[in-house]
Amino acid sequence: MKITQFIFTIMATFLILSCTNASESDLIEQVDPEIIITYTEQIKPIFDSNCVACHSNPAINGAGVPLTTFGEVKSSIENTDLIDRINRQSGEGGFMPLGGSRIPQASIDLIMQWESEGFAE
Ligand code: HEC
Repeated sequence: MKITQFIFTIMATFLILSCTNASESDLIEQVDPEIIITYTEQIKPIFDSNCVACHSNPAINGAGVPLTTFGEVKSSIENTDLIDRINRQSGEGGFMPLGGSRIPQASIDLIMQWESEGFAE
């Protein structure tokens, strides 16, 4: 009787361990660090809702550069202080979006990650 109980305990332990392992790998799959930021999927919506009211093509309200396409946004990040301006505090000189509130930190982080990944379209 005792040996049967012992064997049962061992088997139960293995069963629990294998279940634990399965759910662990499920979790890892959900949090995928390999996601590549693309202009079309993550970046364009941020510029469309925060910037193109003035940075249309042609730009209006005195905004110098259009920010409506992949090429325009990429070139502006490379050639202007765009990243610096969206990181300033609302009310600071040169802050963008002009007269608006700071875009969410998560969106700023996405834009900077997109830049560091080399601007995937
Ligand atoms: C209400 C209108 C308005 C909105 C909205 C706006 N801008 Fe601007 N932007 C301007 C104006 C006006 C200028 C020119 C004056 C200046 O340089 O500060 C400008 C200038 C800029 C410049 C400098 C361009 C150059 O040639 O050096 C960048 C970069 C910029 N904006 C980025 C953005 C980004 C990014 C957003 C969205 C997060 C945004 N702007 C939203 C009005 C706006």
